[in-house]
Amino acid sequence: MKHAKKIVTVCGAVVMAWSAGIAIAGVTKPGDVKFDDTKVTAPLTNEAGDAAKGKLLFSNRKKGNCLACHVNKDLADKPFHGEIGPPLDGVASRYSASEMRGILINAKVALSDETIMPGFYMVNTGARVAKKFKGKTILSAQQIEDILAYLQTLKE
Ligand code: HEC
Repeated sequence: MKHAKKIVTVCGAVVMAWSAGIAIAGVTKPGDVKFDDTKVTAPLTNEAGDAAKGKLLFSNRKKGNCLACHVNKDLADKPFHGEIGPPLDGVASRYSASEMRGILINAKVALSDETIMPGFYMVNTGARVAKKFKGKTILSAQQIEDILAYLQTLKE
């Protein structure tokens, strides 16, 4: 009996922490992201972004798929660079890290509400969103930080 009571207490504490909006694993939930104008200054996770992982996500068709819309000379060995968005060569010389984090999280807030660039860290609730993506973000918080670390290497 003693044992069962202990488990209930532990669960209760976790549920309380969760409902109080405390980020248990140090991850900011999409609904809790704070924009300061177009910038998001605070990292989404406690773990520093990994530029090597970000580079892979950048060209991964099922994840970032950034190459579908952006030219990037750093990935000249990869085919099919789209030209819908501006080239990202030297992008870190044009934008600060906080600005780029904002663009990645939700380009509609950070760039323009008409942009076709997807919001990579916002919850999709639209009627035309496929069931498996409903309520989910395209990228995870850590993947945003990884791509951001990679973008910061693109200097002119
Ligand atoms: C469906 C096309 C599309 C995809 C996919 C896309 N973008 Fe974009 N992006 C755009 C467009 C279009 C713009 C220009 C903003 C506008 O709409 O006026 C843009 C702008 C940007 C900018 C600002 C660049 C500048 O010089 O002003 C950055 C940075 C950026 N995108 C990064 C990314 C990254 C990183 C990814 C992948 C995670 C990505 N984009 C995926 C279409 C896309």
